[in-house]
Amino acid sequence: MIQAVIFDLDGVIVDTAHYHFIAWKRLADELGIPFTDKENEQLKGVSRMRSLEIILELGHAQLPAKTKEELADKKNQWFVEYVHAMKPDEIFPGVKELIAGIRARGMKVALASSSKNADAVLTLLDIKNLFDAIVDGTMIKHTKPDPEIFLLAARLLHVSPADCLVFEDAEAGVEAALAAGMKCVGVGSVYQLPRAHYHVASTANFTVSQIEKI
Ligand code: BG6
Ligand code: MG
Repeated sequence: MIQAVIFDLDGVIVDTAHYHFIAWKRLADELGIPFTDKENEQLKGVSRMRSLEIILELGHAQLPAKTKEELADKKNQWFVEYVHAMKPDEIFPGVKELIAGIRARGMKVALASSSKNADAVLTLLDIKNLFDAIVDGTMIKHTKPDPEIFLLAARLLHVSPADCLVFEDAEAGVEAALAAGMKCVGVGSVYQLPRAHYHVASTANFTVSQIEKI
């Protein structure tokens, strides 16, 4: 039976996935590399540097490590600017209520995001208190699809991985959840996330009673 629910942040709790996309698109345009929301799917859930490397691979471009650091920093500055203009009501509708319902039924709740900006985003939205544990990109060696982030979240919650349910919008995140031995709700279509156990168009469409039946 599910004892804990672990949420990804970008694209699951708040639409920051869109801000990551427009910042990467801006950089790709500057580099002259064609980049659309289709290619962007590969960037979801992976680290900042890995995202840049995927864009460079798409453009068959190779750059020195120092230049890559500078470009990744530039993208991050744009992302931080976009996020600071965000309003607390940009959290997806129904998410707070879903989390409150999960906690009211005695299940634990964690956040597991590859983003090093996760703490800042949660603070801006004033939702840090919704989680029993928070794991972000500053706390892990390997980002999704490696299971490390979800295994650490389960350990912090003192719950066995097999009793955890993950909400993910990224293919890399679904793979990480499966590799951790967890059940996974894909936030997106079955075409985008074929390996997830369940699918919803939006996080809050999955109800607490559905979770209790898993
Ligand atoms: C993930 C996003 O949550 O965090 C990725 O899905 C992003 O798109 C990654 O690249 C790293 O984020 P940040 O904020 O550390 O650059
Ligand atoms: Mg995500």
